[in-house]
Amino acid sequence: MTGEESAESAAGPEAARPLVRSLRLGLDAPRTGPMQAALALACAPLDWLDAHRAGFLHADEEALLTDRLHARRRHGLLIGRYAAKCALAALRPDLDPRALAIRPGVLEQPVLSGASSEQNLGISLSHAGPVAVAVAFPEACPMGIDLERIRPANVALLTSQTHAAERRLLAAHLAVPEAERLTRLWCLKEALSKALRCGLTVPLDLLAVGGVEAKATGLGATFANFAQYQGLSLAAGNLAAALVLPRPPAVTLAIDAREWATFRHALAEAAAWEPGA
Ligand SMILES: CC(C)(COP(=O)(O)OP(=O)(O)OC[C@H]1O[C@@H](n2cnc3c(N)ncnc32)[C@H](O)[C@@H]1OP(=O)(O)O)[C@@H](O)C(=O)NCCC(=O)NCCS
Repeated sequence: MTGEESAESAAGPEAARPLVRSLRLGLDAPRTGPMQAALALACAPLDWLDAHRAGFLHADEEALLTDRLHARRRHGLLIGRYAAKCALAALRPDLDPRALAIRPGVLEQPVLSGASSEQNLGISLSHAGPVAVAVAFPEACPMGIDLERIRPANVALLTSQTHAAERRLLAAHLAVPEAERLTRLWCLKEALSKALRCGLTVPLDLLAVGGVEAKATGLGATFANFAQYQGLSLAAGNLAAALVLPRPPAVTLAIDAREWATFRHALAEAAAWEPGA
């Protein structure tokens, strides 16, 4: 069963399907042997998620949805968990999404329970309005993910939060508007902060991007102070995303080019997505 199918059955056949794409990632790791991770992107309105949440939420996740939550936070919690369950379904189709709980840890990081197997699994997720991305990964290979809207109005703020050297690096490799370059830079740092579990509580200089390289799958990045990690940045429409994971020789990422193109297309669809369209 694929992530898409699992999401559909969780939602019920009568409902219009939300946008869901998932993608398995091959991880070639000499220390542990080959492993797999899975990415998912999901986009759905709050009323759909509320109407179908019994199909994908664990009781402990349901308990997070208190009446005091602002609608925006409720939407973020639900779409983030939904994307995470889609990623988990792509990685472990044998698991019931309702038996898996993603609860906040003491640093507010997502902690997955219920996926008992020989391999501990981790989750990273990010939401932007009705859209979320998530990556399910073996704990042996820590990852972080981020998703942001590209907004020209944020250029001044993002410029103030980045180094001229980083901005020059991106400008040399990405012939796109400044708002997109800066947002992609920001996503890379935030995804690294999630892989490290510190979030943006550290001086941003620590998360600086140290190198970038055009790759078939998007823009590849390395970090000035975390040489063991690599980043992958992509953007479509007004959405930018980044995935951070250990870099070679620890881990070599293998992605099917056709599936990656489909995933990228889904990001563009999600960017253009309007409720009720
Ligand atoms: C993590 C952080 C960068 C996310 O920023 P954001 O742009 O607001 O939100 P995103 O949608 O991209 O990501 C949100 C998700 O990040 C994850 N997250 C939160 N804190 C995290 C951390 N320390 N490490 C890894 N992931 C984290 C959560 O899954 C969260 O979604 P959820 O609350 O719905 O489960 C930001 O919230 C942050 O810096 N948090 C630090 C919090 C912290 O250290 N608290 C200490 C409490 S003692």
